[in-house]
Amino acid sequence: MVVSAAKLMKKARKVERHVTERRTERTPQQAEARKLVTFLETGELLAGTFELKEAMSRILAILGRHHGMMRSSVMLHDQDTNELRIVASHGLDESEARRVRYQLGEGISGRVAQTGKPVVVPQVSCEPMFLDRLGARRKPLKKELTFICVPVLVNRKPVGVLGVDLDYKADRDYERATKFLSIIATMIAQAIKVDHLIEQDKQRLLDENTHLKQELRERYDFSHIIGNSGPLRQVYEQVTQVARTNTTVLLRGESGAGKELIAHAIHYNSLRANKPFIKISCAALPETLIESELFGYEKGAFTGAQGRKKGRFELATGGTLFLDEIGDLNVSTQIKLLRVLQEREFERLGGTDTIKVNVRLIAATNKNIEQAIANGEFREDLYYRLNVFTIFMPPLRERKSDVLLLADHFLEKYAREHGKSIKRISTPAIDMLASYHWPGNVRELENIIERAVLVCETNVIHGHHLPPTLQTAEGSGTVTQLSLEATVGAFERDIIMDALKTTRGNRKRAAKLLKTTERIIGYKVRVHEIDCNRFRT
Ligand SMILES: Nc1ncnc2c1ncn2[C@@H]1O[C@H](COP(=O)(O)OP(=O)(O)OP(=O)(O)O)[C@@H](O)[C@H]1O
Ligand SMILES: [Mg+2]
Repeated sequence: MVVSAAKLMKKARKVERHVTERRTERTPQQAEARKLVTFLETGELLAGTFELKEAMSRILAILGRHHGMMRSSVMLHDQDTNELRIVASHGLDESEARRVRYQLGEGISGRVAQTGKPVVVPQVSCEPMFLDRLGARRKPLKKELTFICVPVLVNRKPVGVLGVDLDYKADRDYERATKFLSIIATMIAQAIKVDHLIEQDKQRLLDENTHLKQELRERYDFSHIIGNSGPLRQVYEQVTQVARTNTTVLLRGESGAGKELIAHAIHYNSLRANKPFIKISCAALPETLIESELFGYEKGAFTGAQGRKKGRFELATGGTLFLDEIGDLNVSTQIKLLRVLQEREFERLGGTDTIKVNVRLIAATNKNIEQAIANGEFREDLYYRLNVFTIFMPPLRERKSDVLLLADHFLEKYAREHGKSIKRISTPAIDMLASYHWPGNVRELENIIERAVLVCETNVIHGHHLPPTLQTAEGSGTVTQLSLEATVGAFERDIIMDALKTTRGNRKRAAKLLKTTERIIGYKVRVHEIDCNRFRT
């Protein structure tokens, strides 16, 4: 016969009412049905809450109410103190219960927690091992008691015990009672296991989060922004001035000059460093999406809006919102943004609640905004709102002294990343890097060094590891296709110059290093117009 859980519960409750009202004994069948209902209720209590202690107390109350277990407790092993402590109880004085401690192996509960085996004390008054820390039974015993203690096992290891007091009955089936309690203890153990897993996961995420935040802060620390040229030092000064204020900052400069890096540096050196840094690229998103990304939307705001979504303004609350490539923002969104900047509040799309803005704004662009204003593509009023404190990132060609520092920095970074032991950049390659005009700025330099590290098979970056744009670009910056002869020639010149550098201009030793004759080296030095004196330091 199939009986639904709900029907079983209903029936059991009816019997319960009958038993309590008439103070009659349950029939064996009624007692069995009540046990099943208790299992069901225990499962529901454990599954229905994250408050494990509360759920355990309620389970113990059910054991008291329906199974004659007038006093009961769950004790768990505290890893730090190596003691058993009561975490949930029923029928005990709570403040007293909180103070009770058992060592592992001590008394009955301590022994069960140590061995993982249940213990039954049919008559408490006859058991010398029964410590009764709680003193509950110390008072002259009116009635004889039975004590049953079962282990709470997680992964077959005891993590605690479940102990109950019952009225002594000579004909009680102890084995059945122990089995019943063991099932309850197993269900509790399962919930404890899940609780531990959730707790561990939460702790791991918290640790990871703290670690990542620390890492981010270190990464955007000034010491990780490479360069000490005059123009860059000026930028550092401006960042220091503005970081700790709430002022809107507009970052301008060519593509790849390091605007985003500076935006991070401002955030991580501000009072908002512990709050989120949220970026939105105004160029990457289509017009229709940008507003919902910025301001979020309510359920049903448009087709496909299946639930409420927070916008980046809301996500950045307390922190910094970085509006990258602001010059590409469409005019209708510009109007909305202007309103937010003026009134410091907004509504989600399709919503009526006004949301206050507590966000520091940093905007960046590589566009000529003045030109965009003249063309009617960018609103002048928005520009004035953004242009409170402007920092110009100088292009790399205007800070040549930073090129080598950056090249060395990226060399070290990518050599480490790709597991190569490249030690330095050869003099000719340095010359090429120094004379190039870097239209793609630091980003281009970074890419070029990474590529060189990848193709380099020795421990020195040579000129031929650099892309053709640089091979011919000396001074001019023009791109031309190199012939085989010229490429081989450049390669040869490079290698000879490097050998001469190692031998400080000594041709004989350079020849030996390259496994050739001094005469050939002399000839090549003349052909490639290499100045050996340059290496005699
Ligand atoms: N001074 C610097 N020190 C170290 N790395 C730098 C420096 N300047 C720029 N970079 C690196 O160069 C790359 C490009 O920089 P970034 O993304 O900040 O440029 P951008 O000005 O935002 O460019 P775009 O306008 O194209 O978005 C990044 O990988 C950044 O880490
Ligand atoms: Mg950028």
